[in-house]
Amino acid sequence: MKFLIILFFAVNLTLLASKKQRPGSQQRIIGGSSVNVKDAKYMGSLILLNNRNIHQRHTLLCGTVIIGMSWTLTAASCLDKVADKLIHFGNVRVRTNTTNWQDDSRYRKDRRIVDSRKHQLYRGIQNYYDYNLALIKVEDRFDEVYERAINLAPDTYHYRTFSTAYVYGWGLVDPDNPAFQPPLMGTDLKISNFQECQAYVRNYYGMQISWRQVCTEPSDEKDFCTGDEGGPLVQDNYAIGLMSWNPQCAIRGVPSVYTRLSLFNEWIFRTMRELRREG
Ligand SMILES: *[C@@H]1O[C@H](CO)[C@@H](O)[C@H](O)[C@H]1NC(C)=O
Repeated sequence: MKFLIILFFAVNLTLLASKKQRPGSQQRIIGGSSVNVKDAKYMGSLILLNNRNIHQRHTLLCGTVIIGMSWTLTAASCLDKVADKLIHFGNVRVRTNTTNWQDDSRYRKDRRIVDSRKHQLYRGIQNYYDYNLALIKVEDRFDEVYERAINLAPDTYHYRTFSTAYVYGWGLVDPDNPAFQPPLMGTDLKISNFQECQAYVRNYYGMQISWRQVCTEPSDEKDFCTGDEGGPLVQDNYAIGLMSWNPQCAIRGVPSVYTRLSLFNEWIFRTMRELRREG
């Protein structure tokens, strides 16, 4: 039921987005180019296996980023897309070692989730996707050719306004066409001035974003979109953000919002210790 509500919500947002005029919009993550996973070995997708119907393809839920031997990060909102019991019973997998999320060759690697934890202060839309991150522990170690952990931005990381950062994912390449394409895409974006983003989100959505979030500049050319959430914002070989929230992709003037990862090192390492102790 929860899943249906979220689907309904997503479809509505898609319809809403498609009604807006997007000057110069065309098939173009949006506006990016395809990327081989060997150039982004920390990339994984969260996949829902369709056990009931073997003829139906698996479903892409989100992006995820490898941060340790058996650890990935994703957005807490990504785990909201499915019932907890589907995760518990192994219907959701972390898929890595492949450029194509639909890869059903023996080369792609699917791992079971043995444990996951959303940030305890995450409340979804109720507090505007603040604290939107979750830690996932997988059943065995990331040690394939195209699997490598990325470094997390240190606590002191400086997010320079208008500096370039990169996003990668399997999300929509065209907000008007709600079908996920197979190859991994990537694009460059520019970090926004935080106060401007905050003011914009307040005026446009009536929403309050916090210092624990970071934005990239609005562009009608390049953006992340549905299905990319949970994947990383990368700069200088660090994961500096997690794609969090972007109801209207690639519309001029509408910024995209990320979780500011440099503020969560302590939470991440504490949660790893807790899950290790339990597991
Ligand atoms: C991972 O991908 C590489 C390159 O395609 C391949 O050589 C390797 O066998 C893959 N790993 C697994 C477990 O299939």
